[in-house]
Amino acid sequence: MDKLVISGPTKLKGEVTISGAKNAAVAILPATLLIDGVCKIDNLPNISDVKMSCKILEQLGAKITWITDNEIEIDTREINCTQAPLDLTSKFRASYYLIGSLLGRCRSAEVGLPGGCNLGARPIDQHIKAFEALGAKVEVAQGKITAKVKKLVGTSIYMDIVSVGATINAILASVLAEGTTTIDNAAKEPHIVDVANFLNTMGADIRGAGTDVIKINGVKKLHGNTTYSVVPDQIEAGTFMLAAVASRGDILLKNCIPEHLDCITAKIFEIGGTVEDYRDSIRVSMNKRPNKAVVKTLPYPGFPTDLQPQMGVVLSLADGTSMIHESIWESRFQYTAELNKMGAKITAQGKSAVFEGVKSLTGAPVYATDLRAGAALLIAGVVANGETQLYNIEHIDRGYENIEEKFRSLGANIQRVVEPNANN
Ligand code: EPZ
Repeated sequence: MDKLVISGPTKLKGEVTISGAKNAAVAILPATLLIDGVCKIDNLPNISDVKMSCKILEQLGAKITWITDNEIEIDTREINCTQAPLDLTSKFRASYYLIGSLLGRCRSAEVGLPGGCNLGARPIDQHIKAFEALGAKVEVAQGKITAKVKKLVGTSIYMDIVSVGATINAILASVLAEGTTTIDNAAKEPHIVDVANFLNTMGADIRGAGTDVIKINGVKKLHGNTTYSVVPDQIEAGTFMLAAVASRGDILLKNCIPEHLDCITAKIFEIGGTVEDYRDSIRVSMNKRPNKAVVKTLPYPGFPTDLQPQMGVVLSLADGTSMIHESIWESRFQYTAELNKMGAKITAQGKSAVFEGVKSLTGAPVYATDLRAGAALLIAGVVANGETQLYNIEHIDRGYENIEEKFRSLGANIQRVVEPNANN
């Protein structure tokens, strides 16, 4: 098993190019099942979740040609299987998008219950509610979800909770349905808009993505013959913005959409950092200890839960006592025990944590408990005094492209080391 060995402290300085969004890519790839044709997708992040999605699509009959590390051509004219391989689907969360896509394309889907980061309970009742509203019969048994329908018919779907996955799945299942579907209380994240833009480029008729009411007028067929570029990753960009602040550095992030980062920019101003927006880049710098702050995670456009651990590193170093309330996931403070091993003073209880700011962190062996926790601990290792050994980095590889090269190009001292038996 690989580990990262990080020697700090480093003030991160320089330029970094943000990759395509993981959470858009892992939805757009299954969405290609709705197309009866060939299309190209570029700005795909070169991460293990994308490779896993491609492997699953190939097993369902898609033909994929890698043009570069970040661009594929995908031919979905001959989808010959509606059973997604259970060993692969159970490895990551976004495999649930295969249900909406297969249901839309083939009227039948059998998919293993999704895996992914352990953040507490991750129910899919709203996904099922949407499929059933469109006419499908859904069963969950023996670790898999089976959905079948004779004809998908457009309807009104009210989401009881704002859910990224359920909103996208409802879109996927209704694009080829008969008539109009309305999704009320929809999620508004940039990747929802990106999936809708992708499908519209291929001939779908989806309106209102990015607002809380989305209307989908069913179409008969989606065509290919188009190239689509995945939106820049809001969360990767936010990770580097917070890395600039935590390390008291100065980073220019290229290939990002500053508007998607407003909620992070606002917090960085509040804690004393500087942010300059350009058209498709953003510069973040910090030259002092951060001020304390109160942060509450919320659905977009609120502060993203996927940046909560990285913000936790910043606040563990703040001048004074800060507070984070996690309102999306029930168990997203597992990283705080690891940060405390590095000298942080964090008390986490339930969905809240109190950060008593310390002046500095010290390197230690730590374990990534999930993807964003891994990114946070990497930042902590960069700013800490001495050596940090970061284990379980397969979590990080699921969602960040070339992470150590990107940090290294900003001055960090990071090595990837293969260590066969590392485990926590
Ligand atoms: C997506 O997960 C992201 N994953 C997560 O990112 C992200 O943390 C989350 O959205 C929130 O922004 C992908 O896009 C692949 P939700 P998702 O459905 O879709 C509850 C990362 O690090 N809920 O928006 O699974 C749920 O329990 C990952 O990249 C239900 O109750 O999240 C949670 O409390 C981690 N019933 C809330 O809604 C449902 O049917 C939001 O979950 C669905 C969700």
